[in-house]
Amino acid sequence: MSQKIAVVGSGLIGQNWSMIFASRGYKVSVFDVDQGQITRAEKNISVTLTQYEKDGFLRGEIPAAEQTKLVTFTSSLQDCLSGAIYVQECVPENLELKKKVFAQIDELIDGETLVASSSSCLPSSAFTESLKNRHNMLVAHPINPPYFVPLVELVPAPWTKQEVIAKVRELMEIVGQSPITLRRESLGFALNRIQYAAINECWNMYQSGLLSAEDIDKVCYDGLGPRYAFIGPLQTMHLNADGIVDYCKRYADGAYNVQKETFKPIPVQYDVETAEKIQAEYNASIPLDKIPEKRKWRDARLANLAKMKNHLEKD
Ligand code: NAI
Repeated sequence: MSQKIAVVGSGLIGQNWSMIFASRGYKVSVFDVDQGQITRAEKNISVTLTQYEKDGFLRGEIPAAEQTKLVTFTSSLQDCLSGAIYVQECVPENLELKKKVFAQIDELIDGETLVASSSSCLPSSAFTESLKNRHNMLVAHPINPPYFVPLVELVPAPWTKQEVIAKVRELMEIVGQSPITLRRESLGFALNRIQYAAINECWNMYQSGLLSAEDIDKVCYDGLGPRYAFIGPLQTMHLNADGIVDYCKRYADGAYNVQKETFKPIPVQYDVETAEKIQAEYNASIPLDKIPEKRKWRDARLANLAKMKNHLEKD
């Protein structure tokens, strides 16, 4: 019999996690405090999985109709958690709410259940410290849209047990996500630290009038994006010379000089004045009322990229 996973919160991220777990045959029980949202989420998952199957984006080997049946909904947190091996919390990013929901979960689980928060920024130490099952709790931060962007940042609190981190990492791999493990809590986890460093340079180059916003974006989607779609920056250094040590011997001074001459002090404040200028540039290509449409366009391309990467990995 397949094992049960609990998803607490049925918004954007809760729905994505539910479909990810169902794709590998887990029974998923979803809880939400908003009955209207439960109805919308149930319909949305059914429609989305059917559409993904038609488009060839469905994950796993199980037909969409069966995956849909694996996801059930409840307005009782107790029923949701009962018998679950793992809980993925997906309520809004608000410290008081996370504290409340984790305390409720803590009261209802046994000592075996593992509990991860989808938190984007809040470390789990901020809302699990006083809980009796805190050793079984951590952050498992997905990247939007998680169904097509597989990275999951596992961020343990100081008291999270090593074996818990290992088990959650294994579960993430089983369901086809791509977990990384931070050895300790760090503001911004890993992805946002790298992302902000990249945005800082985009901001500085735009402010100094060096390039247009559209050309800065192009540097990423037609330059760094493809380069980093299969291997990361450190491995790129390793491959672009006879190993990373050789790379440093050849290029480290040049990289240092570029930084010394061009980099501005950090932190960079992303100011509204610059943002307004960038937005004015986008007004022609993506006016504000076209953002939802463009989001769909982006997600469809990410879906195709995920499909292609999965296909290549099977070869
Ligand atoms: P959302 O607002 O779409 O969904 C939150 C859901 O939680 C709603 O359905 C709401 O009714 C429900 N909820 C509120 N209080 C609740 C309670 N006490 N018990 C159970 N359910 C409750 O939010 P979203 O975007 O799904 O985010 C959830 C978490 O995932 C947040 O911590 C967020 O930071 C994180 N996250 C969000 C990403 C994004 O791009 N939206 C990306 C990665 C992580």
